[in-house]
Amino acid sequence: MSIAAVSNSPNCHSHSGFSLKPSEQSPRLLQLHFEQSLVTAFLKEVEKFPVQALEYKSMLRFRVASILNRLCDDQLQPLLVETLVDRNSGALLITPEGLNEVTQAEDMVKFTTAIAHLLGRSNFDAMSGQYYARFVVKNEDNSDSYLRKAHRVMELHNDGTYVEQDTDYVMMLKVDEQNIEGGNSLLLHLDDWEDLERFSTDPLAHQSMRWSAPPSKNTSKDIFHAVFDIDRSGQPIMSYIDQFVQPKNDVEGNWLTDLSESLETSKATLSVPVPTGSFLIINNHFWLHGRDKFTAHQGLRRELMRQRGYFTHAKTLRNPTQ
Ligand SMILES: [Fe+2]
Repeated sequence: MSIAAVSNSPNCHSHSGFSLKPSEQSPRLLQLHFEQSLVTAFLKEVEKFPVQALEYKSMLRFRVASILNRLCDDQLQPLLVETLVDRNSGALLITPEGLNEVTQAEDMVKFTTAIAHLLGRSNFDAMSGQYYARFVVKNEDNSDSYLRKAHRVMELHNDGTYVEQDTDYVMMLKVDEQNIEGGNSLLLHLDDWEDLERFSTDPLAHQSMRWSAPPSKNTSKDIFHAVFDIDRSGQPIMSYIDQFVQPKNDVEGNWLTDLSESLETSKATLSVPVPTGSFLIINNHFWLHGRDKFTAHQGLRRELMRQRGYFTHAKTLRNPTQ
């Protein structure tokens, strides 16, 4: 099945237990819905693998992935792989029906683990010491990055800018939400950005810069790379985040500030509400992501889970390191 055909189709494509259709926000962002009967069957089959077992034995992450794919008549893996590397799409909003309470958080981790490991393998997350990280956003926060700051926009960025591992995909799951108004996920596809050509063809686009993270990220080594690279098909891709790039002089600093201002004022940014239990998975090379601000509330609480990793079935990068 071709994903282009799916994206252009006004109707839903149905398979056994799941369906795919373009989202309201953009034909590039596809919505993948799993029926409750399939989710229930999956959870029953993986009942014998508690999340702790998936943490300790990485091989089991691939086993739960295979179980999900088999329940989908082996149709799910090719669809995921094709969508995530397709430059015209590369993003899914996934809803497993019936998984929508924080008490089901372990089941959410199992389901997301299965999806991620049909595409590739999730990287070690230094913040949590696991292959995934769960974290909470509250009304007040004293941390050292904007990840947990509720009342401001988290600017558009790529993940993995300060680590040596390839970060081909980013998965973001909403585990819980209480007293939340605002805080939609923000997404920008590079080919929709009005100033892509202006910045990606600038002499500074391919100049190596220094990247370093604050202490909470538990990584102390500086990394050097340019903001832009070229993918296997010759198109520009990005590895950029405003908080962690360390410009060496006024020329780099001003160019980066211009780039940031252009991204933050782009009219092509999508604002996507993600219901509890649903998750986004995006190609991290040609999609930027961020988060809109929340309305203040004393009881504001949002819990998220993320997995980042690399593809094992198809590649976006020219020279993947793994
Ligand atoms: Fe991020």
